[in-house]
Amino acid sequence: MALTTFIMQLALSILAFPMYLLNFLGLWKWICQKWFPYFLEWFAVTYNKQMASKKQELFSSLREFEGPSGKLTLLEVGCGTGPNFKFYPPGCRVTCIDPNPNFKKFLIKSVAENRHVQFERFVVAAGENMHMVADGSVDVVVSTLVMCSVKNQEQFLREVYRVLRPRKMSSENQWSADEDEGQLSRLIRKSRDSPFVPVGIAGFMTVVSYGLYKLKYRKDQKMSIHLIHMRVAAQGFVVGAVTLGILYSMYKDYIRPRFFSVSKK
Ligand SMILES: C[S@@+](CC[C@H](N)C(=O)[O-])C[C@H]1O[C@@H](n2cnc3c(N)ncnc32)[C@H](O)[C@@H]1O
Repeated sequence: MALTTFIMQLALSILAFPMYLLNFLGLWKWICQKWFPYFLEWFAVTYNKQMASKKQELFSSLREFEGPSGKLTLLEVGCGTGPNFKFYPPGCRVTCIDPNPNFKKFLIKSVAENRHVQFERFVVAAGENMHMVADGSVDVVVSTLVMCSVKNQEQFLREVYRVLRPRKMSSENQWSADEDEGQLSRLIRKSRDSPFVPVGIAGFMTVVSYGLYKLKYRKDQKMSIHLIHMRVAAQGFVVGAVTLGILYSMYKDYIRPRFFSVSKK
């Protein structure tokens, strides 16, 4: 076991060595910044196809946020190659922000393909510091697939709040989300959405408890062997539950709506 672990660690270190070396030489970030836009351009085509109906639904209400000028001013943070442009309403004024300057030429291409939007400017900056955008100057902020790469999410959201134009919400538009939801009801809701997570945790706890209970009845079996068996069983349960969860989500999101014409929920 120890030997296998050592061999796997060694193989991983050898495979990752070029990345460490490039990072040490200060080149890794440059390579990623240079090549990521090409990857994203390719990825966005497939992703947009899969998400088209969702994006249409999400962006269909943008007009409701129009400012007093009668024009919608939109700020897209972490715009990438501009794959969201085609979902924006005609005439909306778009400012884009992204820390990677290499997206500029891809954005220009996207602007040319989406003449219905009025492109204002591209700012090279991270969402955590958007000082080039004035306080209360935009009607809507859009950010898709970005938060996972943001280092300081709290500061990012503070900046979003700062640049958004203050707006009175009508009672039916009021944000009714998790803020008022108690810990327990949130837990129940999340368990209902992804039942395999609590099942995995419960299975893990059960297997570990059973393994510990059986510890003193293990006869002449070595303690380390008993613990390894217990760990493998517990891990196996979690992996099994996660796999079932993924398969269930795929069924729920892609197979059921497509073949059984049931709305996604
Ligand atoms: C996965 S891409 C998504 C691009 C685009 N929003 C989309 O939906 O295809 C993530 C983007 O976030 C940008 N990004 C990373 N860190 C950021 C930060 N701190 N603030 C703003 N954008 C950031 C990246 O440069 C990249 O363009």
